[in-house]
Amino acid sequence: VHHVKSTIAGLNLGSDEFSLAVKSSLAQVEDLLLTELGSGDDLLTEAATHLAKAGGKRFRPMFAILAAQFGPRPDAPEVITAATVVEMIHLATLYHDDVMDEAPVRRGAPSANSRWGNSVAILSGDFLFARASRLVSTLGPESVLIIADTFAELVTGQMRETVGVTAGKDPIEHYLKVVWEKTGSLISASGRFGAMTSQADPETIERLARLGDVIGTAFQVSDDIIDIASVTDDSGKTPGTDLREGVHTLPVLLALADHDDTATELRALLVDARTGKPRPLTEDAEVERALVLLRSSAGMVAAHERLRGYLRAAQDDLAHLPAGPGRDALSDLAEYTIERTG
Ligand code: FPP
Ligand code: MG
Ligand code: MG
Repeated sequence: VHHVKSTIAGLNLGSDEFSLAVKSSLAQVEDLLLTELGSGDDLLTEAATHLAKAGGKRFRPMFAILAAQFGPRPDAPEVITAATVVEMIHLATLYHDDVMDEAPVRRGAPSANSRWGNSVAILSGDFLFARASRLVSTLGPESVLIIADTFAELVTGQMRETVGVTAGKDPIEHYLKVVWEKTGSLISASGRFGAMTSQADPETIERLARLGDVIGTAFQVSDDIIDIASVTDDSGKTPGTDLREGVHTLPVLLALADHDDTATELRALLVDARTGKPRPLTEDAEVERALVLLRSSAGMVAAHERLRGYLRAAQDDLAHLPAGPGRDALSDLAEYTIERTG
């Protein structure tokens, strides 16, 4: 078996023929993406293509293309359109997310907001959404409905994260809901879209959407672990961004629920003693100290344990799909999701 690298470093795509087909589909997505993002305005074109050109794993297109392998028409042009649409929606949310998070770096490059300011970044996100909507219209009303509902879920998740957990509610339950809405929903839609556009049967479409729920949730949990564990060189982002925003992610929630000295010091740093709510960190030294404590906390170990649980759930689901290079690649994608460092 020949091991071929894809855009997702190290993902084993198995046999040559299969790997070439997937790579060719990904290359077509890349072309369509840049074509669709061009505009008559120079600044808009530059700003709207900025993040696409800065890199990115193309995780959602990859998942859509792999899901398409379970239908009779994996090479249908609609698969390429669907895979491009989900990446465009994802990119649109990143422009807006970096404004809300005041994030300076994304994909190893300056974020659009730090390079051109918030107005240009917001308009670029809107433009990407407009272009994605135009493209998805070619797939028909059912696809438009799926994207519209997914978009509403992304916004709901972002809103729920912004508002934070309400009194009396379980913070971990709140967190998991946000994670599915802001990330799982689009990855699930990617699987659904890939399977749908290759004309897979309804049961297979549902299975790939459900697999997307699990892989998507794991993807965000690992993103949140990376925000604590990584260095910028690996992740292309600034570590501690969630802490600066006062967003308590899974490792933080699990670490705070502990009863040791680390938990006590973390509570003093991260929780407003008066309100009991997360305290956004403003000082670099505070962020550094919190990151040091979190990196060696039991919460971090427990968060990794949960990730492995998602992998087991994904593998159980995968066992119901027909064996072959498509299933092997999805299994590798699930493993990559929980092991990635950037
Ligand atoms: C990243 O989370 C954020 C998302 C995956 C979803 C963001 C959704 C919106 C901004 C909804 C509105 C979008 C539009 C276009 C109206 P994160 O901040 O934890 O991840 P990061 O580490 O990649 O920044
Ligand atoms: Mg962010
Ligand atoms: Mg955010």
